Amino acid sequence: MKTLLKLSAAAAALCVAAAVPAQSNAPIKVGLMLPYTGTYAALGTAIENGFKLYVQEQGGKLAGREIQYFKVDDESEPSKGTDNANKLIKRDQVDVLVGTVHSGVALAMARAAKESNTLLIVPNAGADAITGPMCAPNIVRSSFSNWQPGYATGVLMAQRGHKRAMTITWNYAAGIETVKGFTEAFEKGGGKVVKDLTLPFPNVEFQALLTEIAAQKPDAVFAFFAGGGAVKFVKDYVAAGLNKTIPLYGSGFLTDGTLEAQGPAAQGLLTTLHYADSLDIPRNNAFRKSYALTYKANADVYAVQGYDAAQILAAGLNAAKGDLSKRDVITAAMRKVTVDSPRGKFTISAAGNPVLDMYVREAKGLNNEYRSVAVKALADPARGCKM
Ligand code: BEZ
Repeated sequence: MKTLLKLSAAAAALCVAAAVPAQSNAPIKVGLMLPYTGTYAALGTAIENGFKLYVQEQGGKLAGREIQYFKVDDESEPSKGTDNANKLIKRDQVDVLVGTVHSGVALAMARAAKESNTLLIVPNAGADAITGPMCAPNIVRSSFSNWQPGYATGVLMAQRGHKRAMTITWNYAAGIETVKGFTEAFEKGGGKVVKDLTLPFPNVEFQALLTEIAAQKPDAVFAFFAGGGAVKFVKDYVAAGLNKTIPLYGSGFLTDGTLEAQGPAAQGLLTTLHYADSLDIPRNNAFRKSYALTYKANADVYAVQGYDAAQILAAGLNAAKGDLSKRDVITAAMRKVTVDSPRGKFTISAAGNPVLDMYVREAKGLNNEYRSVAVKALADPARGCKM
């Protein structure tokens, strides 16, 4: 009889356990979907390094739970974006997606994340739509919208008295939207964009377009390129002799993580971005030291954005005490957080995009040195976001 009673008590306990599952202590699965090959390969690696550095600084755990990584090389190839995202979402069943660099790939990721209601933290790609018409509670960015650095450079170039500008970029969302932001601010400041030049991503045959710039003789040129393409563009601009008469500006991706490879060609270039290597605040100094010790490399804006993606995830998980079933608590906390970033503290808009101080930087040696603030607390207009 006693044995029977014990057995039925144990069975009852099991039923309760099944109805109210104990919080899992299994590792949190983080899916890193980043470019590890191609023109943006170095950017993907820096983001992963930054993300892992923050987790490592927390003892390898967030909200008391181990982190398990799954990785996919997205090759900056939009046509493979959906399949690659689903490798992480459906095959690996990750709890959170982190990615990516390329706006076209990120749009596919955001669609897949929305359909499956998977948490997504975007650590670079600026596609305006992600925090515009496609905005969703489960999607947050740790980086910027394409509009923001374009707009800030437009402010700078108008303030510096340029009147006639040409733009040059790759013909995909990041280039087109950055130029749009630039044009909005530059023309509001009294300038005029006289011609937009584009070439397909990731093409680096710039010669014909440089010849056209020489023929048009604008006051200044605004460029969006990044990674390997930025290295070649800046060198080609100087090799064509254009820097002697037509000053070149860019959103900061033109010189971020690229200065060693660009050599003398990049020296003195003025750009705007939400980060400057030499930003002299304790958080940045400690971050750069820790990054250099860990990876034997200098941190750049991509590393910062990876680091901050992990900080945003930590804020969500800490609010829910590591309980992934508390989705509303996690997504609300990921927006409410003030991120103590190496770029300076920043908040996140209702649409899920960082509100950013945009800095003027000058390329000196291997650093993008801080010069001034181009625009304080610049919020993306989040056009089309309804939540
Ligand atoms: C983008 O595709 O959104 C992007 C890529 C590199 C740097 C900045 C933006």
